[in-house]
Parts: sequence; C-alpha cells; structure tokens
Amino acid sequence: MHLTKITLIRVKGGKSCIISLMPNKNEEEVVRRAALFTALDDASAATLRESMSAVKVAKGQILFKEGDAGDRLFVVVEGKLKLGTSSGDGRENLLSILGPGDMFGELSLFDPGPRTATATAVVDSKLLALAHDQVIGLVKEHPQVALQLLRRLAQRLRKANEVLSDLVFADVPGRVAKAIIELSERFGTQKDDGLHVNHDLTQEELAQLVGASRETVNKALADFATRGWVKLEPRAVIVLDYERLAKRGR
Ligand code: CMP
Repeated sequence: MHLTKITLIRVKGGKSCIISLMPNKNEEEVVRRAALFTALDDASAATLRESMSAVKVAKGQILFKEGDAGDRLFVVVEGKLKLGTSSGDGRENLLSILGPGDMFGELSLFDPGPRTATATAVVDSKLLALAHDQVIGLVKEHPQVALQLLRRLAQRLRKANEVLSDLVFADVPGRVAKAIIELSERFGTQKDDGLHVNHDLTQEELAQLVGASRETVNKALADFATRGWVKLEPRAVIVLDYERLAKRGR
C-alpha cells in the first residue's frame, strides 16, 4: 500500500513546488524500470520509492551545475533533461538526453567530487531524488542493487567509448543519423505517417549532442530530408525510412 505524501522541495535558483507523491500506475511502471529499482522485490521497491523526495523542474531550469557539490541522485519520472559540459570559452557539449526511467547524479557518490555535468530540464519534468547516504544504506541492505548500478556504469562507459570512436572515425552525417536513431529508440512513437521523434531539442542542442557545428548538422538533416529518409519539424523529426537512416549511422 502506498501512502499519499506531500513534500516541499526547493530547486537551486528556482521556486519551491509542492508535489503529491501519490504514484499513478504509469509512473510506477517507469520508476520500477530504473537501475535503482530493478533488483528489488515489489515491497522493497515500494519502500524505496516512499523514501524518495519528488522534485519538479520547469523547462529550461537548471537542476545542478557541473562543479557543484553533489549529495543526491535522481530518477526521471516524467519529462526530459539534458546533461552537458562546457569548455572554458563557453562552448557546450551534450553528453546525454535523459527520459523517464533514467537515473543520474550517482558519479559524485561513487567517486566523491563535484558534479561532472550540468543537468537542465528540456521540458517540464518530474524526478525522484535519493540522498547519497541513503543509497549507501540501500546497497548495504540489498547488495544486488550494487550490481545493477555497476551494470549501468559499465553501459555508460561502453557508450562513452562508442561516442569517442564515432568522433574520431565517423563523419557528421553518420553521427547525425545515429543520434536520430538513438533518440527514436528513447522517445519515438510509431504513427501511420512514420516514426515521430519528439526530441524537444533546438538545432543548437542537436549540434551539441552530435559534436559538430549547427551548420553541418543542418546540412546533414536537409540532405536526409531531400532523400526522403526524414521529415523535419520544429523540435521533432519524423523518420520515414528507418533502415536507410540506421545504415547511414552504423
Ligand atoms: P554526477 O557527476 O553526480 O552529476 C552529473 C551526472 O551526469 C553524473 O553524476 C552522471 O550520472 C551523469 N553523467 C556524467 N557523464 C555522463 C555520460 N557520459 N553519459 C551519461 N550520463 C553521464
């Protein structure tokens, strides 16, 4: 049985917001898929969820900044966030786009130190937060949770290696094609006229995700549109020829 709980949270630089923790069925399923929860039985998962605080971040709001001290990890319940880093001269790079079920903010726990990236809401988002010391308690009580967290870290390292080799070996159109395919796997919805990928990213943010200039990324997208592989919409792409696009991104 779940308790209805009301929590008051203040997000850095933002307004306080009151959120009911009463879970709806869909949210519950989403959270259950997060790495923190998958190794737990239903009763332990419900207890963990009840011990987490709800956090709401409005579109464009920064949850935390690269270099901040980190004391909590987060699970995305609803919405979309971007993780980015910036160079000393103000250029920005996006590491990842996170959606429902994704967990982040754990690196500063396992390797104590400042936050390694800035987390910003791309759309209005709902999160659950767990204090780092509570994570330690959870892992001690349920060692299998540690294995799931290690698995996530290993998957992230694999992905980071892949991104690095793509930056060295793949051309910009190849990286753009791959980014769209990956976004479609996370956020795509199949409809009659194609696979709708509502990425909610600006052209600049897409370019930061691919690690190229906005001009070259736009040129690649325009080329894909001319070939009939995609249809471009504001902050969305409709994939019309998945096979060819995926092949270009391989
Ligand atoms: P932390 O350093 O506490 O805060 C920023 C978070 O971004 C970090 O924990 C990770 O959870 C996440 N993160 C850092 N680098 C990457 C990456 N390359 N891919 C995905 N997530 C990352």
